[in-house]
Amino acid sequence: MMQPTAEQIIETQRADWNRVAPGWEKWDRFFNEQMTFLNHRLIADARLRPGMRVLDLGSGTGYPALLAAQTVGPSGSVIGIDLAEQMVAAAERKAKRLGLTNITFHQGDVTTLPFEGNSFDAVTSRFCLMFLPDVSTSVSEIRRVLKPGGWLAAAVWSAPDKNPSISLSVEAIRTVVDLPPPDPTAPGIFRLAKPGDLSGMVEQAGFGDVSDLEFVAEWAYASAEEYYESLLDIAAPVQTLMAKLSDKQRQDVKRLMCEAANRYTHGDRLVFPFVARLVVARKPQ
Ligand SMILES: C[S@@+](CC[C@H](N)C(=O)[O-])C[C@H]1O[C@@H](n2cnc3c(N)ncnc32)[C@H](O)[C@@H]1O
Repeated sequence: MMQPTAEQIIETQRADWNRVAPGWEKWDRFFNEQMTFLNHRLIADARLRPGMRVLDLGSGTGYPALLAAQTVGPSGSVIGIDLAEQMVAAAERKAKRLGLTNITFHQGDVTTLPFEGNSFDAVTSRFCLMFLPDVSTSVSEIRRVLKPGGWLAAAVWSAPDKNPSISLSVEAIRTVVDLPPPDPTAPGIFRLAKPGDLSGMVEQAGFGDVSDLEFVAEWAYASAEEYYESLLDIAAPVQTLMAKLSDKQRQDVKRLMCEAANRYTHGDRLVFPFVARLVVARKPQ
C-alpha cells in the first residue's frame, strides 16, 4: 500500500481533529479535572516564570497553553498553535472566558514554525508530537525558535499496555474487523511510546539536559457507558476507525469495550491507569 505523503497526513489530521472538537468542548471539564496535574507538571518542567514568552504546540482546546498564560502573567505571553481551526476556536473561547489577554491561538502545522530563531523562552506540548508526519524536523524547528538556555517540555503517550483505556478500544475493533498491523513509524497515538523514541530525536537535534521518564497516573469514569461515550467523542484516531464499521460491528465493539472496561471497576467507578512519557530538554546556552 502507498504511504500517505506528509501533506495527506496533515490534511487527515486536520479533518479528524476538527471533527472531534465539539466532543472536546463537551467533555472539557471532565478531562481537565482529571488531567490538570499534567499541565502543572509541564509548566514546571518548562521552568515557566512571569514575563516569559512561551510557545505551545498542538494546543487543542488550550492545554497546557492556558495554564502557561496564567503562569507567565501579564508581563509574559503565550502562543498556542494547532492544525484544527475548530480546536483553535474552542481554545480562544476558553481564554476569553478566563479573561486572559496575554495568549493567542493560531491555526498552523507545528512542523514548520513561522517564527524567528531564538524567540521563545520555553516550548510546551501535550499529546501532539506523535501525530506529526516528521517529528525530527519539528524537533529541529523547536530548537531553532527556542532562546539559548530555554526548555522544551513535551508529553506523549507511553505504551499501549500501560494505557488500557485507549488500547482496549483498538483491540475491540480488531476483534470485529481485520486491521492492518500498526506501522510503528506512522503517525499515531503510540508512535513515540518507547523510551528514546522522542528523546533520541531531541538529543540528535542538539538539545542538552535531556530527560525521558514515565509519568504514572490514573483517570476514573462513573460507568462503562461514560467511558465509551467520552472516548468516542474525543479520540479522533478511534473515531476514524469506528466510522468504517457497520452499525452491527459498532454495537459489537461497544459491547466488547464496555465488558473490558468493567474489569477496571474499583468501588463504584472505573479506574484506569494511564502512563504518559515526559521528555524534557534544554537548548544549550
Ligand atoms: C490529543 S490532541 C491534544 C490537545 C491538547 N494539547 C491537550 O493535551 O488537550 C492533539 C492535537 O494535536 C493537533 N495536531 C496534530 N497534528 C498537528 C500538526 N501537524 N500541527 C499542529 N497541531 C497538530 C490536533 O489538531 C489536536 O488538537
